[in-house]
This record gives sequence, C-alpha cells and structure tokens, in this order.
Amino acid sequence: MNLNAKIKEQIVAILKKEQIKIKADDLEIPPSEEMGDFGLPLFNLSKELKKSPATVAKEIAAKLTVGELIAQVKAVGPYVNFTIDYEKAAQLTIAEILKQKNKYGQSKAGKAQRVMIEFSQPNTHKELHIGHLRNICIGAALVNLYRASGYKVIAANYIGDTGAHVAKTLWYLQNYVNQTDYPAGRRELGEFLGQSYTAAVKKIKENEAYQEQAQELLKKLESGDPELTKLWQQTRQWSLDLFNEVYQELGVEFDVVFYESEEEKQSSKMSALLLKYPFIKKSQGALIADLNEYNLGVLVLLRKDGTALYGIKDLPLAIKKFKKYKISRSIYLIDIRQSQYLKQIFKILQLMGFNKEMIHVPYEFVQLKSGIISSRSGNVITYEEVKEAALNKAIEETQKRHPLWSDIKIKEVSLKIVMAALRFGMLKNSNDKILTFDLESALDTAGFSGPYLQYTVARMNSVLKKAGKQKIKADYKKLQANAEKTLIKDLLAYPEILAAVISSNDPAALSQYLYKLAQDFNAFYHELPVLKAEPEIRSSRLLLLKSINQVINNGMELLGLPVLEEM
Ligand code: ARG
Repeated sequence: MNLNAKIKEQIVAILKKEQIKIKADDLEIPPSEEMGDFGLPLFNLSKELKKSPATVAKEIAAKLTVGELIAQVKAVGPYVNFTIDYEKAAQLTIAEILKQKNKYGQSKAGKAQRVMIEFSQPNTHKELHIGHLRNICIGAALVNLYRASGYKVIAANYIGDTGAHVAKTLWYLQNYVNQTDYPAGRRELGEFLGQSYTAAVKKIKENEAYQEQAQELLKKLESGDPELTKLWQQTRQWSLDLFNEVYQELGVEFDVVFYESEEEKQSSKMSALLLKYPFIKKSQGALIADLNEYNLGVLVLLRKDGTALYGIKDLPLAIKKFKKYKISRSIYLIDIRQSQYLKQIFKILQLMGFNKEMIHVPYEFVQLKSGIISSRSGNVITYEEVKEAALNKAIEETQKRHPLWSDIKIKEVSLKIVMAALRFGMLKNSNDKILTFDLESALDTAGFSGPYLQYTVARMNSVLKKAGKQKIKADYKKLQANAEKTLIKDLLAYPEILAAVISSNDPAALSQYLYKLAQDFNAFYHELPVLKAEPEIRSSRLLLLKSINQVINNGMELLGLPVLEEM
C-alpha cells in the first residue's frame, strides 16, 4: 500500500465532488508544515473564472469537506491547502511497516518483467580505481531496487579483456619486466598489472615507435600467436582474481559475466553481416558506420589492419542479451562520456532492424580533491588505496570507542563501517553530478555519510533494547509535535521514493531520503523524551522509532550498506 499516493487520491476525490478536476501531480508541497501538507495552486483556475486566486481559494476551501485521511482544508493565499490526519496516517503506516517488515516499500510494479542491468565492466590489465567504484555501487543498488519493485533482474558484467590497453600492458611486460620480478599473492598480481599499464602508457608517450610496437602486438595477439596468448591468459586471470576479491568484499554478485574477447570472435561474422547495409562503408581499409545522416557522426568498427574496435563487439553482445536471456529491457550503466558512442550503437542496431528497449544510464566521473582520476596520467587512487586508508582510520576510531573489544571484532566492525562509507560516498550524488570523493567526510559519523546511518540505527537499537517489551497500547493522537509529524510524513514518502528511483535509474534520491529520515529522527530524539515519556506517549514514540528503524534498515539494504547492531 502506498499511503502517500492514497492521500493524494483522496484530495483529488474531495475536489472532484465540487467539479474541480486535477491530477495528483498538480499538488504542491507548501513551504511550511503549519500551512498544510499539500497545496493546490489556483492561478490557472482563477484566470478562467476572472477572479483573484485568493478569492477563488477561499470560495473553494469553504465548499470542501474533509476526508478519511485529510483532517483540514483551508485557503492560504492563492492556494487551497490540505492537512493530513496525522493520527490516522501514523496508525496506518506504522501498522503497515511493522507488518511488512523488510518488505515494506516494495512493490510488484515490474510485473516480473525481465531486465538485464549491465554494470561494473572493468578492463583487465588496468587499475581498478575509485571511479570504477561509483559504477559498481550504483549498479548493485539498481539491481536490488529493480528486484524490490517486482522485476526479474539479470545482473551482468562485461569485462574488457582485449584491445589496445591489453596490448600496451603486455608490450611493457615483455620489454621491461623480468618474470622473476612478478610479485607473489593474488591481490598483488592484479595491482602489479594495473601499475604496469600506467607505466606502459608513460613509456609509449616517449617514443612513437613504441606505439607501433604495441599495435603490432595487438595484431599478433588477435591472430592467435601462441606465446602471446599464453601471457594474455595468465595476466588476464590476475585481473579477474582481483576483481572477484573486490566484488566479494563489497558483497556484489553477477548472474552472468560477458567478455570482450568472446564477443570479438564474432567480429568477422558481424562485419560480413553489416556490409549488407548501405550505411556501413569501407574507408581506407577500415570498416566504418556512417551515421552522419542521423547526426551521429562516424563510428569506426575495424581498424585498417583488421583489428577489432570496441563497437564491433557491442553489437553481437546486445543481440545475445535479448535472444539468450529473453529480456525485454537492457540497461547499460556506463560513464556519461560514452553517451555518443551508445547512441551510435543503438542506432546501428535499429538500422539492422533490431528494435528493442535499450537504455544507457549515464553517470558522471569521480574526482578527488586533488583532481581527476585517470589511469592514463597515473593520477590514480586505486580502490585498494582508498579502502586501506579508510580501514586504518575506522579501526583507530573504533578502538578508541571500544577499548575492550577484541581485535577481530574491531576489524569486523571497521570493515562494515568502511563499506558503508565507500558505498554511500558513491551514492550520495545524483548520477548527473560529478562526485568529489573525500575520505574524511565519507567516514564522518555526524555527516552526510553511510556511517551516520549506521550510527543512527545503532542508537535506535539501543533505545529499543532498553525499552524491553511494551505493555501499554499506543495512542497516536499523542504524537502532536512537529518533529513527530515530520517523521510520519517521511515514512509515508518511502514507497514513492523507491518508485522514483526506478523511473530515474538513479539511487541518489534514496540515499538523500535516508539521510533526511535519520536527521529528522535525531532531531526528534534530541527534542523529545522517549523512554522517560508518560506511558501512552512512550509506547507511541517507541513504535514510531521502531518503524523508522525498519525503514532505514530496508533502505540501507537496498543500497548495499551494511547495518551494525552497535557501533
Ligand atoms: N570496459 C569498458 C570501459 O572500461 C566499458 C564497457 C561498457 N559496456 C559496454 N557494453 N560497452 O570503458
């Protein structure tokens, strides 16, 4: 049940009885709670009636009757405003939350429709930096959110294990590193490979001949040279092992993993197929898609030397996703800088008669206070570096707070704090905003952060523990303070937030909502007594608190933020 929607429907119905037809979306939120909870602006209607908006507002308000969930109707300037029946609303939402528990807020809106969400998609032979982390966190959250909305989701990864970056790294290893210098240990090998890529790029810049050598190597590799293939397989595995460790640490799972190297095998078949179409051309030996007619420029599919480019692999993959996995929607979570490219890919597919629902969900990059991250320039903060730094800080803080805890317990709790810090830190901004990551604020238990949510939950848990079992019945009439009304309204809004996040493919609204809810709770708890309140108020407040706790837990779970019982 979506109570907020129900309240708005009721307002629509109240107005309809007086022949005023509006849509729920026409309702606005008044600037202050004393004015009401929903407001209908009368500027348009007053023009029609040739009266002032304030007069019309007064006339209408005088005629309207209150409803089951609406306690008051009044004219406020050029608006008719409606005030929720808080007692009723509190009773209904709290009952619903406590009944539905971790299912509260979920829906069946997706009607079991099959959706594939492709995310993460790291390149092997490169470093995993915190820019990649943003993609992983948004993607994993979207998977959970779609599932909670009744979709059948296939979480997919697409690993970039071929192409120029691989060739550069292999070229560097062959020419500058002795095998005896390879480090030991899984994680170390993966990181070493990433560093080799950075070193390779630097070297190649020094001399044009190196660029040619790397390109030569790519050609040899693509034609199946046995020695190179062996080195490629060995090193590729290093990266894959590292990725898997990171996914495990983050608690991220994929249902299917695609590889560029697999799709590349379709290149010649794909090019032959494509050549039938007039927009596909051979230009100086290269294979290109000329999309100028659609204002989409030109996409090169094969280089003159026949080596495959990025796009020629995306085409067969896109088709396979629909055919083999029987999906009806295909979502690509990819950096905004690839928007033009994806438009080109989707256009080519459409021109090939492949008309399917394919959606690019773009997101902006992550920067540190020190500037943009790029594995090319070497100004990289790897995932590992950030995590280690965060972990050290978290351990230090936790030790200070709990000098009696065992080292194992401290490490365990700290790791959960770090995961919440990193994930929330990556989900706090909407996708279209550049994200400046700052370790201090990501870990700040008093700030706009994951640990702040963890801290709030731990605080509520300790109140509930102290309260013990309740005997007195709640009386929601007693929840009259503004801080309480705000919380009831927050709770009402949760199902709508989930729906909004799905339609925008952007989890940030949920992060921001949870932060507001936690803040509103802490303000309430600061202002009003709970355990020491008189019996009926005490039980009402405790149930309110329990409901808030449930909703924050639910939201955190969807965003992939670990919860801590105590902190
Ligand atoms: N591996 C690519 C990169 O790091 C992203 C792949 C995105 N997905 C796709 N189907 N093209 O840039």
